[in-house]
Amino acid sequence: MSLLFDSYSIKGLELKNRIVLSPMCQYQAMNQQGVPEPWHLVHLVSRAIGGTGLIMTEMTNVEPIGRITDQCLGIYSDESEMEFKKINKEIHKYGAKSAIQIAHAGRKSKVTEGTIVAPSAIAFSDEYDVPKELTLQEIENIVQMFADAAKRAVRAEFDAIEIHGAHGYLLHQFISKATNKREDKYGNPTLFAKEVIEAVKAEMPGDMPLIMRISAIEYTNEPYTLEDMIGYCKTFVEAGVDMFDVSTGGNSPNRPDVFPAYQAKYAKAIKEALHVPVISVGSLENPDVAEHVLRYGSADLVSIGKGMLKDPHWAKSAAEKLKVELDMPGVYGLGY
Ligand SMILES: Cc1cc2nc3c(=O)[nH]c(=O)nc-3n(C[C@H](O)[C@H](O)[C@H](O)COP(=O)(O)O)c2cc1C
Repeated sequence: MSLLFDSYSIKGLELKNRIVLSPMCQYQAMNQQGVPEPWHLVHLVSRAIGGTGLIMTEMTNVEPIGRITDQCLGIYSDESEMEFKKINKEIHKYGAKSAIQIAHAGRKSKVTEGTIVAPSAIAFSDEYDVPKELTLQEIENIVQMFADAAKRAVRAEFDAIEIHGAHGYLLHQFISKATNKREDKYGNPTLFAKEVIEAVKAEMPGDMPLIMRISAIEYTNEPYTLEDMIGYCKTFVEAGVDMFDVSTGGNSPNRPDVFPAYQAKYAKAIKEALHVPVISVGSLENPDVAEHVLRYGSADLVSIGKGMLKDPHWAKSAAEKLKVELDMPGVYGLGY
């Protein structure tokens, strides 16, 4: 019996298997307005057709200067909301569920209009602009933008919301002391994220799970530890997070050593310390490795990134490898 193809439920979200499409920026919003295009529909729906249980959108930003590039998605307009609703309708036809990753890039934005912002005026690298330090009023406004994005996501019929608190984007910039040098109340590493979580949660139906992607450790010169992050996560759970999606790094150009399941131990540590469900991500493309991560109790769900760029039917391919029957829609089954 394969755990990968076992069903899973958290609050009102019922998944047919444990496979998640990892959020991956497509840089394909050629309209420059953050509105999903046919590319996004094809990208997301084809992975649903391929058997994925939970389809997660790419980082979808709460305001124009919160996008990484002019071609990144946003959920701050009626047009985006409408296009996402169409995409969700298609995803649901294939028995998959959908989640939106809502985010703000902060200092890691390269948009061509507007001034980029961050907790402190420190550039990500020489290739990025120095961000403007956010005022208290501007921080309050961004918290409200996350709430508005959640409201739109619910109306667009997403089944879950993931807050992007990882990879050096705005929430993570507040969490990390390498990027947060503030001396006001937001110098507290968890305060901004806590306010965002509470604001988002207030807009969600009671049975809709709130997921948060975190960087369990970071590779900066002033890193927090895994134990620090476990403490922060305790605050995030109290604020309303139901599940963590556990990644690492991103707040500096330094990168980790990558090997199969290289981040699974962090997911396991957070799951065990806080008794919360977790998603593991990072080099889980080999279905035997993904299955092992679930069996070993490191995670409740596994998220597949590049493996699904290569193969939209990754779930079906994994089922073939693990000798699990998985029906494909239409005539696609004939291909097997
Ligand atoms: C092209 C690309 C875009 C990505 N965009 C995002 C993103 O929008 N949000 C996010 O949290 N992670 C993003 N990631 C990271 C992936 O979600 C995933 O965590 C990472 O690729 C490791 O998983 P993998 O080894 O299965 O690829 C991106 C990765 C790639 C390759």
